Amino acid sequence: MKTISIINLKGGVSKTVSAINIAYTLVKLHGKRVLLIDNDKQGNTSKFFGLYDPESKCGLSELLTVKEIVVDNVIQQTSYEGLDIITANMNLLRANKEILMDVSRPQQTRLRKKLVSVKERYDYVIIDNAPDINMTVVNALVASDDVLVPIKIDQFSFDGLEQILEQIEDVSEFNSDIRFAGCFVTMYQRNNVNQQGAELLEKQGYPMFSTRIRKTVKVDEMTFVGKPLLEYAKRSTACVDYVALVKEYLGLC
Ligand SMILES: Nc1ncnc2c1ncn2[C@@H]1O[C@H](COP(=O)(O)OP(=O)(O)OP(=O)(O)O)[C@@H](O)[C@H]1O
Ligand SMILES: [Mg+2]
Repeated sequence: MKTISIINLKGGVSKTVSAINIAYTLVKLHGKRVLLIDNDKQGNTSKFFGLYDPESKCGLSELLTVKEIVVDNVIQQTSYEGLDIITANMNLLRANKEILMDVSRPQQTRLRKKLVSVKERYDYVIIDNAPDINMTVVNALVASDDVLVPIKIDQFSFDGLEQILEQIEDVSEFNSDIRFAGCFVTMYQRNNVNQQGAELLEKQGYPMFSTRIRKTVKVDEMTFVGKPLLEYAKRSTACVDYVALVKEYLGLC
């Protein structure tokens, strides 16, 4: 089992859309068994699969705060065979405070420890993180083998990248295997700003995927319909790009 964190401290850069489509591409085209974890109190990934419940007491928050709750108690099936999910809701706010205050057991390694019991059941765990660094995000990083950073090109694209790298450095105390797999450009448009921004990013020396995810209205539509791109618009540019990105990640191209 390999665990991947999708993270960027900036909001609205396509973390959730990428987590969903990377996960589903691994399931549909590569026959992998995937567990998606919603690690954002907004619950966007949970909402996408129609599994958001503001009252739920059986999600990521409880997994991280209640000692007796095991991962089997919180996993739900999506309507896609091979793709399961752990949902989130506003309880994550409370969970973050509780983890910080509860020093009676380790705070950073809770997710990592709880995921051990499903390591034979899934090929990949994909974590959709909040645009934040908090205790549940630290738990995600400590549980992760690879970190992927979606980047939308604008004036502030590079903000927060250094902090993510620092955070990866910090968690390596608990997880020496963590790897910054790379950044990839999202919502790419063929215009000067995007082209020059992407080139600048490549020159910074950060690991970069050569696949860029193009901007298309099909992505906004997909979020309304609640179907991953491979189901909703498989010929759309973004879908073709996510398929290429996953291949590049898997080292297949
Ligand atoms: N390739 C794309 N083309 C067009 N629109 C896109 C693309 N990727 C994402 N979007 C749109 O951008 C918005 C933000 O996407 P998303 O919710 O995935 O970002 P996020 O980084 O998870 O945001 P947050 O930080 O709030 O969690 C959504 O409205 C989504 O439909
Ligand atoms: Mg999101």
